[in-house]
Amino acid sequence: MDQSMTSAPPKIRIRDLHKSFGDKKVLDGISLDVPKGTSFVIIGGSGSGKSVLLRCILGLMTPDSGSIEIDGEDVLAASAKRRDQLRSEIGMLFQNGALFDSLPVWENVTFGLLALNKLTRTTARAKAGAILEQVGLAPSVGDLFPSELSGGMQKRVGLARAIAAQPNILFFDEPTTGLDPIMGAVIDG
Ligand SMILES: Nc1ncnc2c1ncn2[C@@H]1O[C@H](COP(=O)(O)OP(=O)(O)OP(=O)(O)O)[C@@H](O)[C@H]1O
Ligand SMILES: [Mg+2]
Repeated sequence: MDQSMTSAPPKIRIRDLHKSFGDKKVLDGISLDVPKGTSFVIIGGSGSGKSVLLRCILGLMTPDSGSIEIDGEDVLAASAKRRDQLRSEIGMLFQNGALFDSLPVWENVTFGLLALNKLTRTTARAKAGAILEQVGLAPSVGDLFPSELSGGMQKRVGLARAIAAQPNILFFDEPTTGLDPIMGAVIDG
């Protein structure tokens, strides 16, 4: 879609983004627009910078130069508090799951909501069960620890955590790795 045809800014707008580690250029002038209400896929070889780009948008990593706007707002210029707010509106399924080993699954799923004091622990536990069902897991999985799960189950728990706060942007870093084909089809579709 041609953005010049619409007045609303794209959901995500990136201009001339650069990020290097030492003398290794990872992002070398990335520009892209993701219109609202669309899916956008980034494909690239291992080590090409996909995860680094997502981390920059999430504010987990600071680019060397360039701009990132969400709904027209310059996120790199935002205050730390505002960046936290913006981040809470983005769900992220990390490539490796990134679950907290010391917390039961239900607490991993509702971690963001609990951290923002949006739920009591009792409510969170019940809510986690419902979210786990949405990703094809039994609510009782909530009482297990990540180490007790298979790789595919861990991935689903990571997905449950990503959607728990009903974010308005969802990032999937390698969404289908470790999942069976049926689940992969749901996400890809
Ligand atoms: N914190 C870091 N410090 C130094 N180098 C880093 C750091 N994070 C990423 N890199 C380097 O940046 C490059 C891009 O990494 P990135 O994780 O974005 O790749 P990717 O495209 O996600 O690959 P994959 O498909 O394997 O997940 C790699 O060469 C990696 O070694
Ligand atoms: Mg990656």
